[in-house]
Amino acid sequence: MSKQELESIAQALVAKGKGILAADESMGTIKRRFDSIKIESNENNRRAYREMLFTTKGLEEAISGVILFDETLRTKASDGTPFAQVLSKKGVMPGIKVDKGPVDIPFFPGETVTEGLDGLRARVKEYKELGAKFAKWRAVITIGAGIPTYTCLSANAEALARYAAICQEGGIVPIVEPEVLLDGNHTVERCQDVTEHTLKVTFTALYLHGVHLEGMILKPSMVVSGKDNPRQAGVEEVAQRTIQCLKHTVPAAVPGIAFLSGGQSAVSATEHLNAMNTMAPLPWQVSFSYARALQDPALKAWKGEDANVAAAQKIFYHRAKMNSAARSGSYNKKLEEAA
Ligand code: 13P
Repeated sequence: MSKQELESIAQALVAKGKGILAADESMGTIKRRFDSIKIESNENNRRAYREMLFTTKGLEEAISGVILFDETLRTKASDGTPFAQVLSKKGVMPGIKVDKGPVDIPFFPGETVTEGLDGLRARVKEYKELGAKFAKWRAVITIGAGIPTYTCLSANAEALARYAAICQEGGIVPIVEPEVLLDGNHTVERCQDVTEHTLKVTFTALYLHGVHLEGMILKPSMVVSGKDNPRQAGVEEVAQRTIQCLKHTVPAAVPGIAFLSGGQSAVSATEHLNAMNTMAPLPWQVSFSYARALQDPALKAWKGEDANVAAAQKIFYHRAKMNSAARSGSYNKKLEEAA
């Protein structure tokens, strides 16, 4: 695949008014989500839940692509159509989580590095044959006393860059996701410093590995106060600090930034995205790639019951549309409450 083809996929993922649905929960994560609504995580429930999301009418108005987990990319909807096709028929691009999750770094307590590079070239080839147009790899950075260390930042950046290069070689657009966790009692200033350092180290590694910046998407966390810090930065402050941090670190050649929601409430994630998009002109598209902030209200409404599918889809569609409005800075309370 040519560089131009990678570029056009990356641009389509962050097309105006659109963002990405992350529905790539690993087995452990989907179990935790299902535990919260007291249903079992079995193949049938996982299929039913993802089918509810993916067959939502009008999904394509707000969603450009969906990140899937390995099992989901291989799953068929109840009418026998593979999920990848259900999505692509609507003009929504299927993507795939390719990392194998974080593992502890020896001698660096509290820090992790994400695994999954072994055999990745062959897996990318197979995923492309199954219809995936893009991929995701998540690195996890924890803020605490004396952490993150440079060892952690550079090990994760190196893995992200190697992953991104393998994807581009195989004709798939990489989403590069260095997530700075909001867990902890750190200040918003500390989050900004750590996020800036993380992104600097990440883009240095991407450069050293020859990653084509125009053919990738960055998926960062926003600059927010630690969850347990008594001073919680407001919407304007989060937006200002996040954009400042990104301007210091993300080259303008990157077509788009698609934030993760990271445990923010659904409405906060929309408000923050909206506030950033009122700060135009920005050098990149500023978009979303949310899992919880798009899914949580719908998951709670669904509760594993067929009878609740229509109500859950309505709620999911609303959240997607609210974030679509936030893409142009035109989200407001009136729109939110017009559901
Ligand atoms: P959240 O939006 O729930 O943080 O998930 C995004 C994601 O894909 C994490 O890898």
